Amino acid sequence: MNAINIGLVGAGTIGGGVVKILSAQARFFDEKLGLPVKLTRIADKNIAVLKTLPVGSAICSDNADDVINDPSINIVIELVGGTGFAKALVLKALAAKKHVITANKALISEFGPELFAAAEANGVSIYFEAAVGGTMPTIKTAREALVGNEIQSVQTITNGTCNYILTKMTQEGLPFDEVLKAAQAHGYAEADPTLDVGGGDTAHKVSIMASLLFGGFVPYESVYKEGITTITDDDIDYAKKLGYAIKLLGVIKKDSGSGIEVRVHPVMLKNDHILASVNDVFNAMAIEGDYCGKILLYGRGAGELPTASAVISDVIDVARNIVTGNPIRIPMGYYSIANELKVAPIDGISTRYYLRFTVLDRPNVLAAIASELGHNGISIASVIQLESKSDEAVPVVIVTHTAKESNLQTAVKKLEGMDFSKAKTQIIRIED
Ligand code: HSE
Repeated sequence: MNAINIGLVGAGTIGGGVVKILSAQARFFDEKLGLPVKLTRIADKNIAVLKTLPVGSAICSDNADDVINDPSINIVIELVGGTGFAKALVLKALAAKKHVITANKALISEFGPELFAAAEANGVSIYFEAAVGGTMPTIKTAREALVGNEIQSVQTITNGTCNYILTKMTQEGLPFDEVLKAAQAHGYAEADPTLDVGGGDTAHKVSIMASLLFGGFVPYESVYKEGITTITDDDIDYAKKLGYAIKLLGVIKKDSGSGIEVRVHPVMLKNDHILASVNDVFNAMAIEGDYCGKILLYGRGAGELPTASAVISDVIDVARNIVTGNPIRIPMGYYSIANELKVAPIDGISTRYYLRFTVLDRPNVLAAIASELGHNGISIASVIQLESKSDEAVPVVIVTHTAKESNLQTAVKKLEGMDFSKAKTQIIRIED
């Protein structure tokens, strides 16, 4: 072997970044590995995008099969996205005994067991550092750095688009739609941005992290998820008044009897929480293990070069595995359907809550809310009702002490059925 040959499929934002770093760092990689890493072929169905890259046209193609069928290629980088064409492509690459590197969290989260089995059957590996947290080394941390620990919990901001939107709404008062467009223009958002703002992208990422950290398989469908589309300017203002920041958080907690907690939803974090000041496109992941205690990863969660840098770290890992004759250095057999992990239902969690009721401003309404909450064992920590000139409904904001989710949902449902209730109640969980 006189070179590690790379085939890249998908030359969009991240693919373009990979081409740039491979070319800028070529000599450095050569020195590190003792042989060159060569970008041998690039395919993208949009031939125009290939013309913008600093590579010769001889290696470019609009047909991914030209990459798969090139016998010299050792590693295929899949940066197409989605789970249709991308899954077929990855399976073909594995069958051709090529290692695969992907940034595709949906693919790993939804089809990981099938893909890892195919990789091991063919004596090759799949690396996916860029799938979770952009430039943050989340996968290496879970698979290598923390393997000696029993994990207690994870709290993570791992969608750059949502964090960017919430930051701009909070700090600049900008409207949701306008900021989403800006996030798309920066190349942060998924091709289908409902995956970002609906919480699906974060759910893909936490299902992968929970699987790796707890040594089994957490299916995407088992992750409870809510997105950020229901967060209003009012919620942002009340959060500020109360001393909180609103974030889309992924939460993982070890099994305490009914399964591991794996959930994604907006939360309020006290302003002095370590994740409360993670803003813009930045992501962070706080992990607590029994021996390591608490650790924190922080970095850009999306964008061309930060994400490409994670892809490149996989290129070097896989190249080293090949060069040292250890092509499957990290076996993934545990990430299988047979090893599915039980996830606790959301009804069973206990936390504090921010509730924003929309109710008529008339006698006994506050008393009825307090009574129903109390009847369900929910203790009130604070209440805000601002004076209003309007005869219409007014917001009544209540922060609770720790309560059980099922009791909270029962109380809110009952209150929403009362004639003074004029809109759906906003419920935001408060994480400590
Ligand atoms: N759309 C994703 C985000 C890209 O905004 O975080 C990185 O996975």
